[in-house]
Amino acid sequence: MGFWSQFHNTHFTQLQYLYLVSVITARSKGITVRAMVIINPGNPTGQCLSEANLREIINFCIQENLVLLGDEVYQQNVYQDERPFISARKVLMGMGPFISKELQLVSFHTVSKGYWGECGQRGGYFEMTNIPPETVDEIYKVSSVALSPNVPAQIFMGLMVNPPKPGDISYEQFVRESKGILESLRRRARLMTDGFNSCRNVVCNFTEGAMYSFPQIRLPPRAIQAAKSAGKVPDVFYCLKLLEATGISTVPGSGFGQKEGVFHLRTTILPAEEDMPAIMDSFKKFNNEFMEQYEDDRGYSRM
Ligand SMILES: Cc1ncc(COP(=O)(O)O)c(C=O)c1O
Repeated sequence: MGFWSQFHNTHFTQLQYLYLVSVITARSKGITVRAMVIINPGNPTGQCLSEANLREIINFCIQENLVLLGDEVYQQNVYQDERPFISARKVLMGMGPFISKELQLVSFHTVSKGYWGECGQRGGYFEMTNIPPETVDEIYKVSSVALSPNVPAQIFMGLMVNPPKPGDISYEQFVRESKGILESLRRRARLMTDGFNSCRNVVCNFTEGAMYSFPQIRLPPRAIQAAKSAGKVPDVFYCLKLLEATGISTVPGSGFGQKEGVFHLRTTILPAEEDMPAIMDSFKKFNNEFMEQYEDDRGYSRM
């Protein structure tokens, strides 16, 4: 029996096929592909990966000899119960003695997300699994050369990985506050995605996790034409008009790379919960007027 056939199904899943196409395309351009990055839960789309997804990714990385970089900074930010967060490391450790010792994995976390959201503190860590000790030594050396540690960030990091425990004086308040923040984010995720889905020519997947909604904006041909005349990428044109009309600042999907002819924007679910209805009303009013202006008389692309 071939060595790999012990571990791999020879039939690719759709996901593995897509990864393979990306790797082959990059290699055909002379790029040496060394690693695959996953963001789980995801930025910008807010998706959460299942254990099965992660297994596929791990198998793929082993097969293609890629290091897996697991950006898991949104691991506390999950707003549905079907796919709770599961780390790439945990999945890897459950994949049997060979694979669990083979895949080189680096997992990342930060104090800037979760329920604490301490962006300004600039603290984070990465954990290396199956990285050769000589490489770890080199990384340790490079880190040690940075002589002036960010002490407050290290304190925040210590608090993050060592939260209050039952019996601690602050435990009950900690549970109340962190639960309250996460529940509010869950409601905001719902308010925002429902709000987008109630808008003309807008479709949005539910924000399962992280901090973002990523609605698709189906721009009428006349809007695309107007953007071209203004020398702008169509979704940049839409986002600028939105900013000018409402003050809502978003990131055009083209900033992340998207399929030709498809347009998105990314926004966060972070505005205060009480402000959310007014924000979504304001978005809806703008979007309606925009679509009205650029749809043709036959109501092209009305949904
Ligand atoms: C996926 C992802 N990773 C990392 C970061 C950055 O984290 P930090 O604040 O620690 O630089 C962000 C910030 O938005 C992010 O979205």
